[in-house]
Amino acid sequence: MNLELAPSILSADFGNLAADMAETARAGARYAHIDVMDGMFVPQISLGMPVIKSIRPASDLVFDVHMMVTKPERYIDAFADCGADIITFHLEATEDPDACIEMIRARGVKVGLSIKPGTPVEAAEPYLDKIDMLLIMTVEPGFGGQKFIPASYERIPQARKMITDRNLNVDIEVDGGIKLDNVDSVLDAGANIIVAGSAVYGKDTYGCTKAFLDDFAAWQAKQ
Ligand code: DX5
Ligand code: ZN
Repeated sequence: MNLELAPSILSADFGNLAADMAETARAGARYAHIDVMDGMFVPQISLGMPVIKSIRPASDLVFDVHMMVTKPERYIDAFADCGADIITFHLEATEDPDACIEMIRARGVKVGLSIKPGTPVEAAEPYLDKIDMLLIMTVEPGFGGQKFIPASYERIPQARKMITDRNLNVDIEVDGGIKLDNVDSVLDAGANIIVAGSAVYGKDTYGCTKAFLDDFAAWQAKQ
């Protein structure tokens, strides 16, 4: 299974965004996790279409757009237009997850479905055969720099089992509170796309990205 680091630009320097993202790419990251917050589904407002459009020509990274947006169906086409490669919406944010999945699919974009820490993993079950990625939030969505919720260590293997039992090829992404000192446990639990914001972006973005990727290589060598 592919193993990817998805640095969350929420912790990047927005005044220097393209260059900051380029540091993660230079260190070997292939994904950029882009957190869109609408001030409704979560209290904060982060960034939207104009920012994504501006950074798209500057980056070859896989744009992994995490919509923390109420009624995501209103904006799926707009994010596809901006150059998203993966669009993830929250199960809790829509009354019609199937319609959202179809809208994303119709644009030739990969489909991600996300669940908050309080949503039972089983709630995602009916959609597993229609999505490319399941995003299991490991903090309450809304802010970078929070503490990882330990109950996630049971939720990740539960989701991985549901996926393998059905012979599906669905990525499991984890997002929130992931650092070098807990990332191996998260990998052991069955996640394969790892979001990290505050643990990557900062004083030494290149070095921190590289440290995660070196850790991944060491973890893979042990399997
Ligand atoms: C939180 C966001 C995360 C956030 C992660 O709602 O979805 O992507 O940036 O930040 P860290 O890695 O600092 O917990
Ligand atoms: Zn996110």
